[in-house]
Amino acid sequence: MKKNLVLLALGALTFVSCQTQPKEDYSWIKKGLDAASAQLQLTAEEISSTNMLPRSIRTGYDMNFLCRQLERDSLTFKDSLRAQPTADQLGKRRLCSVYDWTSGFYPGSLWYAYELTGNDTLKTWAIQYTNLLNPVRYYTGTHDLGFMVNCSYGNAERLAPNDTIAAVMKETADNLCGRFNDSISAIRSWDFGTWNFPVIIDNMMNLDLLFNVAKATGNNSYKDIAVKHAMTTMNNHFRPDYTCWHVVSYNNDGTVEKKQTFQGKNDDSSWARGQAWAVYGYTACYRETQDTTFLNFAVKVADMIMNRVKTDDAIPYWDYDAPVTEETPRDASAASVTASALIELSTMVPDGKKYLDYAEKILKSLSGDAYLAKVGENQGFILMHSTGSLPNGSEIDTPLNYADYYYLEALKRFMDLKGISYKNL
Ligand code: GLY
Repeated sequence: MKKNLVLLALGALTFVSCQTQPKEDYSWIKKGLDAASAQLQLTAEEISSTNMLPRSIRTGYDMNFLCRQLERDSLTFKDSLRAQPTADQLGKRRLCSVYDWTSGFYPGSLWYAYELTGNDTLKTWAIQYTNLLNPVRYYTGTHDLGFMVNCSYGNAERLAPNDTIAAVMKETADNLCGRFNDSISAIRSWDFGTWNFPVIIDNMMNLDLLFNVAKATGNNSYKDIAVKHAMTTMNNHFRPDYTCWHVVSYNNDGTVEKKQTFQGKNDDSSWARGQAWAVYGYTACYRETQDTTFLNFAVKVADMIMNRVKTDDAIPYWDYDAPVTEETPRDASAASVTASALIELSTMVPDGKKYLDYAEKILKSLSGDAYLAKVGENQGFILMHSTGSLPNGSEIDTPLNYADYYYLEALKRFMDLKGISYKNL
């Protein structure tokens, strides 16, 4: 009898403690998704007659501020990039054509927001804005084809597949492979500038298109090119501390011509978004190949990022080596790319919790008032405070469509991993 009473008491205690266990508070996810859906729809309606895509908000630049951030007395700018916005452009939405490297991100954000919320209006817009990019299948002038088509058509193929989408992806992947050079064993990034054969770290992000088309077609030559490019980049882009250069240009025999920056503080600095592209790219390479060389490398880059970013909210300054003062801009885009990568990486290693926790910290910061826009503000973009290309006076402390895209992708990965659905938030 006494024993029964004890058991009963224990049972009651367990019941009470289960009942009172605080439920994890994910209201920040709901806040982020609701804001995102509203902003994306508002933008879709406002620009639907333009046949253009939203890219950022136009900012101007102050030469003295640039010199202070770059710790240089005088600057050389690329003429094409340094134009100040006119007074009536300043603070307005910057639209871009389908041939801009960022054209896939807005349709991709619409797809993610539709997937996460189930809102069919977002799907209708996603189809419309994805279709705008159809001519990109004939474009050969950049490595950014992966960004452009995988983020738009790639998500369409996942969520509403059809033969037309698959054909666009294959044609684009063929054009991307056309930029691969066998002697150098890499895909050429840019066709502008004076470099012999420039490859930028960002190019790691274009490999997912090749991996996806390899799987869809059963033709492994796309994957082989992606893997070769990733290995060449691993061998030449990284310093002993696992930070990377932005641009490595090659001679025709595959030797290195130059190691430089284009968007970072200086050649030997660590440009924040470049480090984020790196951890994302090598995590994806491990996902697709199961080659632990890539996993071990992604872990080294992830650890470097977590060690080098010293801000309280885990949103990096635009370059890890920029002088930190009141005026130093953040780069929310680097943070959202990192969060998305680290969530995936957390599933691949035994001590993955530290990566997931770090990604959650980033996502909570981005979903707070300091970064998440209020509905109806921020020209329809979701996040504030990214930096595009500070040395070129372009897109400084402004929203960027790719910050929004990778924020939504990271939220999706986080929700999938935790088993969270929008309806239950
Ligand atoms: N791919 C160019 C950039 O990251 O700004």
